[in-house]
Formats: sequence, structure tokens, C-alpha cells
Amino acid sequence: MNIIKVKDKEFSIFIKSDEILNSVAKVANQINHDYKDKNPLFLVVLNGAFMFASDLMKKIDLECEISFVKLSSYEGTTSTEKVKHLIGINEEIKGRNVIVVEDIVDTGITIVHMMEELKKYEPADVKIATLLLKPEKYDKGYNIDYVAIEIPNDFIIGYGLDYDGLARNLSDIYKIV
Ligand code: IMP
Ligand code: MG
Repeated sequence: MNIIKVKDKEFSIFIKSDEILNSVAKVANQINHDYKDKNPLFLVVLNGAFMFASDLMKKIDLECEISFVKLSSYEGTTSTEKVKHLIGINEEIKGRNVIVVEDIVDTGITIVHMMEELKKYEPADVKIATLLLKPEKYDKGYNIDYVAIEIPNDFIIGYGLDYDGLARNLSDIYKIV
């Protein structure tokens, strides 16, 4: 099916599963090369990165650990400003080589919050692996170390990414019409 409808919007096929898997395998190869004997800790950012992480990890042949985190918004106690808080960290991160696994870097606001929260745990090093990057949108300072696919500034769904909670299960990526 080349056009699908999700709620009120139509989406057309954009990146097919075999192309996604090829790009994911390339990122896995780079990480396998860069992290030999470093026992990295992969921190997968839920919900969106679950499918990317699953395919990526099957191609990683290093001794490594994998865990899942989430950024939750909550109201700060002393101001009304939204604070992002990292939940799900159970591992000792101090001194570890951490690889953050993200679905998409758009404005980069999420990645900035993530990096600032992670610093508090004093890792040796943090690198970022993302399935998708919108280079036209991203304007933050952190280097995005591993990018499977760069895309233009369109809203996309599938392969973990959602529209209003739907379409995460699709194995291809679709773009809004
Ligand atoms: P950022 O903080 O602007 O970089 O956005 C990151 C988050 O926004 C991602 O983790 C996604 O949850 C969501 N997001 C950004 N662009 C898209 C898109 O095109 N489709 C679906 N979700 C998106
Ligand atoms: Mg995400």
C-alpha cells in the first residue's frame, strides 16, 4: 500500500524496509569498529527508538549492555517551567562509554535534555546514534555521531515513529502528504 490514512492525515511511502535495514546495518558496522573492547552501554530512548534498537542490536557483535530510558516532563516544584527528567536508569553509568539510541533528531531539544541529564551520572563518554536526522531543522551544538538516514523537514511515521500514538508498528517509513 503506497498511501495510508492515519486519523485525519494521509501518508505516502517514503523509505522501504530493506533500505532502512541496509542503513541500520551500516551504523552497526561503524559502532562495531569504534567500540571494540569498550563494553558500551546502549541507552535506548523509548518509545520511538524501540524498532531501530531491535534491528541495530542484532547487528552489534560487541560485548555490550542495553537498557531503556524515557524523558518525562513534569512541573517543577518552584516554577511552572516544564522540566525534563530521565527515568529508567538502573545501571551504574559512571565511567561507562554510553551510546544513546534515538529514533529521530528534529530540533534537537530532546537530545540536549538527554545529554544534560546524562552528564549528572558522570559517564566516561556519550555518543548519539539516531535512525533519522533532519539536518535542516537541527541547530544544537552536540555532534550527532551516528546517523542511519538524513531526511528533509517533513513529518514522517512508521518504524517506531508515531502520529498521535499510531503507526509505530509499520515496517516502512511514510511521509505526510
Ligand atoms: P526534537 O526534540 O525536536 O529533536 O524531537 C525529537 C522527538 O520529536 C522525537 O523523538 C520524536 O518523538 C518527535 N518527532 C520529531 N519529528 C518527528 C516526525 O517527523 N515524526 C514523528 N515524530 C517526530
Ligand atoms: Mg525519540
